[in-house]
Formats: sequence, structure tokens, C-alpha cells
Amino acid sequence: MSKNSRRSSKILAAALAASLAFGSVGYAAPLSNENGKSSHSQDQKIIARVNAERAIEHVRYLSEEIGTRPGGLENEKKSAEYIANTLKSYGYDVEFQYFPVADQFIGSASFEDETVWEMGAAPNGAISDTPVHAEVIFVENEDFQGAEGKIVLLARADSTAGYREQVAKAVEAGAAGVILQSLVGSRGNYGQTFNPNLTAEYDIPVFGASYIHGEWLKEQMEKGAVELSLTAKHYKDLKSVNVIATKEAKSKDEDTKEVILGAHHDSVVGAPGANDNASGVGLMLELARVYKGYNTDKTLKFIAFGSEERGLLGARYYVDQLTETQKDQIEAVFVPDMVATNYAKATNLYAMTPDGSQNIVTSSTGEAGARLGNSDILPGKFGSSDHVPFHNAGIPAALFIWMGIDSWDPLVYHIEKVYHTPQDTIEDNISAERMQSALDIIGSGLFDVVRKKTQGNN
Ligand code: BES
Ligand code: ZN
Repeated sequence: MSKNSRRSSKILAAALAASLAFGSVGYAAPLSNENGKSSHSQDQKIIARVNAERAIEHVRYLSEEIGTRPGGLENEKKSAEYIANTLKSYGYDVEFQYFPVADQFIGSASFEDETVWEMGAAPNGAISDTPVHAEVIFVENEDFQGAEGKIVLLARADSTAGYREQVAKAVEAGAAGVILQSLVGSRGNYGQTFNPNLTAEYDIPVFGASYIHGEWLKEQMEKGAVELSLTAKHYKDLKSVNVIATKEAKSKDEDTKEVILGAHHDSVVGAPGANDNASGVGLMLELARVYKGYNTDKTLKFIAFGSEERGLLGARYYVDQLTETQKDQIEAVFVPDMVATNYAKATNLYAMTPDGSQNIVTSSTGEAGARLGNSDILPGKFGSSDHVPFHNAGIPAALFIWMGIDSWDPLVYHIEKVYHTPQDTIEDNISAERMQSALDIIGSGLFDVVRKKTQGNN
């Protein structure tokens, strides 16, 4: 990333911010057609119908009814099934696209009341269905006295070498199992679950818990003895899945362009992923419901990508399967990922490209915001989501995400602290207002791109 590109993205961001601050003059104008009002009446077709509560009902199903959705596992398949059934119920044709993903090592910590917490398991620890049942103790300052026969909870050391040593000491003291509590994450968010990377082989389970799992355990232990049952599973030969629904253009020829609205439906291990990214899927499904009622000049695809959290795998696979001609047909890719957080410091909905450049996705939504008098939307520069593989293939794409940005150079930003943790729930992390704003802006911007053959031609 050159200094120059950083600077230009900053200038662009400032320019758009200014144009939004001064109202729609100069920003909406190039897009409005002869009668001026019609852009707005097209927007009304969308904003009068899209409903945040409906979108959040999808978030509820995915994050509560299904729960965590790690790429390649059973719950990700349930999620795909739910998304496909919903899209079919709106009248769309739906396909599944499967692709292979690497093994997962998952740990389960079960309480007496049958609550189960999902964690990462060390491949080099015991992998067994037979539960290790014991009392949990929190070991501080490497004082392993009394660890024999107990499940040892440890605040993990900073480095891999450091926590390997902690595990070795716990094993030496005769621990029945080890739970390493994650550190507070690098993005200022709480630490997420992880797979402890050990060199030695151990015959006890060794789990990587999220930071909040550790805090919750300590809270419970203050009230009385806590017993857990640990089991660990190695999942192999995994397949993850993209769900693809198509709305054909009203009349199609070889020049017909295609627009994609795509959101990942998987979550990280241990996180119900309400905002990351049941919110993006909920937005996509709600827009799919509303768009069904309208003809478009372009083909519109709704895609739920699998295994984004494992390295943007679903979007990568999708792009890799396209021919050059198919890539050329794609005019725009809209990627909602974390579109409904209630985190107060995430003040704006950013349309992010990996290099900070503007494209049809950022401009159409910026213009929609201006027409609607909604100043939430701003352009920005960020990777880390499914827009990246499209961008790398030369296809205009942008990520939509609520963030607060203090400075671009160096980048200082705010996202919710509960991101990637067990607290990414509707209760702790979803705002209906933010969802509605994202639906209005993305819904109107995308509709403007897809409904007509060329810009400014109604
Ligand atoms: N929704 C996030 C992306 C994100 C997080 C963007 C925070 C901006 C701020 C996404 O689901 C994610 O976690 N992406 C991974 C990508 C990686 C696996 C290639 C990430 O950023 O760690
Ligand atoms: Zn994520």
C-alpha cells in the first residue's frame, strides 16, 4: 500500500464527506434524469417496503435458532438450507455450490445444566468423544499447586512459545484438561476462540476459549465450584457451501450485465455471528424479497458465501470458477458484512474498497444516501471481506460495514468489542435503526444500478 494511494483515498473520502455534508447538490444531480424526481420515486419503491424487523428475524434464525456456523460444519449447512428455502419462498431459482475446506478441531465445554460452549481444540491434545469431567480452577502466576485432576483455566501468554510452556506445566502438574483464555484482540475487540498450536502431543484436551468465556468462567467460580465436561472432535473431509439465487434480467442478450449482492453466512468458532454476518444475510434476504416485485434490465444474483472467516474461501472459489466472459459481465458486487451493530462508536456505514478507489458500488450508494438525505454512508478503504477476491479479479466491488474512523493515516477505527465472540448476539450487538439505514442505502443504490441498462437512462 503506497503512501500516495492512502492520501488519495483520504482526499476522496473527504470530498464525498463534504458533498454529503452540503446536501445532494453536485452528487445526486448527475444521476437524476430529465424529470428530476424519478430517481427519488424509484428509491421509494424500495425504502417504502424494506423492513429492518424482517431482516432481523433472519438474524434471529441464523444466530439463535442455528447458532454458531463455522465453515464446513453442520450448522453452516443448516444456514445454507435456511437461506435457500427463504429465497425459494420468494420465487427465486437457487443453487448450492460446494467446495472443499480444511479440517476443523472443535472443543465443547458442557455445563451441568447442559449449556455448551464451543471452543477451538488443539490438534495435539486429546481428541475424544469420551468426556473429561472435572472441576475448573483458575491458575494465576504459574502456581499449579492443586491442579491435579482439575481442568485448568489460564490467561494465555502473549506468544505461542509462552502458552506452550503454560500447557506443559499444567500437564506436568497432572491437570485433566487445559482451557487457554484468549487475549483481548488486536482490533480492540475481545479475544476470540483459537486452536492452540502445540508441538508436544498430550493426552488431555487443550482448548482455546474466547476472552469472555474465561471471564464468565471466573465469575461463576466466584459463586461456587464449577464442573465442566470437555470433548473434542476432529472434523475432516469438509465441504463448505455458497448459496446462489438468480433474478434474470427482464430481457437478456449477450450484453446483459450482472450485479451481485453477496454476504457471508458462516461465523467464527464460538460466535453466533449476529452482526458478523447474519446481519448481511438478513439484509440480502430482505432486499431479495422486495426486489422480486420489480423487473430489472440486469441480472441480479444473491449469494451467501461460505467460509469467509476461514480466508474468504467461498468468494474466492466463486470467482475462480468464473470464465473471463462471465467476469466481464459482472458490473458491480455489493458485500454487506456487519451492517447492524448497535456499537455507539461505529458511527457510519462505510462503502469500503480494498484500495480506497471509488467505483459504481461506492458511488451508487453515496448518491442514494444523498437523494435520501441519509448522511450515514461514507466511502473508505478496507479489505478483510468477500469484496477482495472480486476486486482482485478487476470486478468493481465494495464492502459495507458500520465503523467509526478517527484517522485514515494511520488507520484508527472502532468496531464493536464483541465482534467474533460469543456476545455477537441480537441482544448485545444489533440495532434495528442501523439495519434500516443500511437497507435503505444499499437497497436504493443497488436498485439504481440493476434496474436500468445505463446510468441516467430510465
Ligand atoms: N466482518 C469481518 C471483516 C471486518 C472486521 C472488517 C473488522 C472490518 C473490521 C470479516 O468477517 C472477517 O472477520 N474477516 C477476516 C478475514 C480473513 C479471514 C481473511 C478478518 O478480517 O480477520
Ligand atoms: Zn468476521
